Amino acid sequence: MDRFFIAGVYKDMSLLSVGHLTGIAPLSDTDIRVLLDRASALKAEMKSPEFISDRLRGKIILNVFYEDSTRTRNSFEIAAKRLGAEVVTWDKGTSSTKKGETFLDTILNLNAMAPDAIVLRHSDYGAPDFVAGRVDCPVINAGDSWREHPTQALLDAMTMIEAKGSLEGLNVAICGDVAHSRVAGSNMILLTRMGAKVRIIAPPSLMPENLPATGIERFTTLEDGLPGADIVMMLRIQKERMESSEIPSDAAYFNQYGLTPARLALAGPGALVMHPGPMNRGVEIADEVADDPARSLILKQVANGIPVRMAVMELLVKPR
Ligand code: NCD
Repeated sequence: MDRFFIAGVYKDMSLLSVGHLTGIAPLSDTDIRVLLDRASALKAEMKSPEFISDRLRGKIILNVFYEDSTRTRNSFEIAAKRLGAEVVTWDKGTSSTKKGETFLDTILNLNAMAPDAIVLRHSDYGAPDFVAGRVDCPVINAGDSWREHPTQALLDAMTMIEAKGSLEGLNVAICGDVAHSRVAGSNMILLTRMGAKVRIIAPPSLMPENLPATGIERFTTLEDGLPGADIVMMLRIQKERMESSEIPSDAAYFNQYGLTPARLALAGPGALVMHPGPMNRGVEIADEVADDPARSLILKQVANGIPVRMAVMELLVKPR
């Protein structure tokens, strides 16, 4: 793979082989490169104070989030507005879901209003594919169950490439509650496809049985898994997706699996830290690590969410 995605190489906007972004798995390697390349071109363009885009002017992006979100929902909204689109946000709390309307009926009714794209977050496994087969516009997966969160993996890839130059041969350790993490799911697929060496580090109770990609090493302690890692990606314990019996107390977890400066030192002096957020400080990560500007890429990940989601929407939302 090329060492860097050179802005402007992929000029043809019809290059994506998919009509929806339901996951990383359905994308071709070229799709991934096109999206990352377009995102870095947009990021460079946006550095100009004159940047105004009307590429999605007159389009309506509908955000449909069945689960809570800070970063992802606002990031999609800002990205859409940066491209000149209007954003409508369906609100679960005030919706007819409360009156007993089914998920499918809600989707069919929203589709009847002809939005230009639906951004969906849902706790059901494969919900974006279910919706994509029933609506007339592109569906963008903003996270489904513990399966996939493709825009997170794309923004993570962009951040790693910027920090380390290339994904090829990069040693990435994904640590914590891997079993319940859609972020880990999409990252494992994307990173192995792009030539990175991925290892997961998780307590036995949070170690997935099956992985969505091959060639991934497994470790059950940070002490064994961290040496040699270039990137240490920490994950939140997803308590809402598990039985309470699966994990010890927060303090006991931090004691064994929390990323402290001493543990980060095991990975080596150049290792950088990532986290998709929301962070649970003092559970999976220590303040000193999360807030270390020399080691933490966490807010850079958030910033890169904007150009990545702009690229996704620009490439999927077709002119009428
Ligand atoms: C994640 C999510 O919701 O999948 N957050 C995010 O989108 N950045 C991870 C999490 O919930 O822990």
